[in-house]
Amino acid sequence: MVISDAARGRIDAEIAKYPRKRGALLPPLHIVQEELGHVAPETAREVAEIFELHPVDVMEVVSFYNMFFATEQPRHHVYVCTNLPCSLRGARHLYAQLKSHLSVDADGNSADGRIRLGHEECLGACAYAPMMRVDGVYHEDLDLEGAKAVVDGLE
Ligand code: FES
Repeated sequence: MVISDAARGRIDAEIAKYPRKRGALLPPLHIVQEELGHVAPETAREVAEIFELHPVDVMEVVSFYNMFFATEQPRHHVYVCTNLPCSLRGARHLYAQLKSHLSVDADGNSADGRIRLGHEECLGACAYAPMMRVDGVYHEDLDLEGAKAVVDGLE
């Protein structure tokens, strides 16, 4: 069993909030990812059992949303918004400079393996462009030095 009893209790509480069990799938995926760092196929099998689904139904959801990961991940996730409003304010240049600063490889991982750097579509903070999301926290009105300070400050 991969999913802890504590997580299963939280999952049961989420399911109880929904009229149909299947409608509650996203919160439990957050719960297991929070606990295990990612949603591996064996975890998806357990989630599928809870939801009375086929494991591929769970993996489809995991692979559809970029907030879920099927494989082990670096400790930190940094996503620069490169949609038009942010790009007009230098986001693409900032993204390229951060890639170089972190010596990011073809998979998007920093040379030290601690950080995954990627770009994202609009995060709804266009008025504060350019911006990036770091471990779920928004950093806005960035310049290159500010962005470097954020990633350099990650443990
Ligand atoms: Fe970057 Fe909207 S375009 S937050």
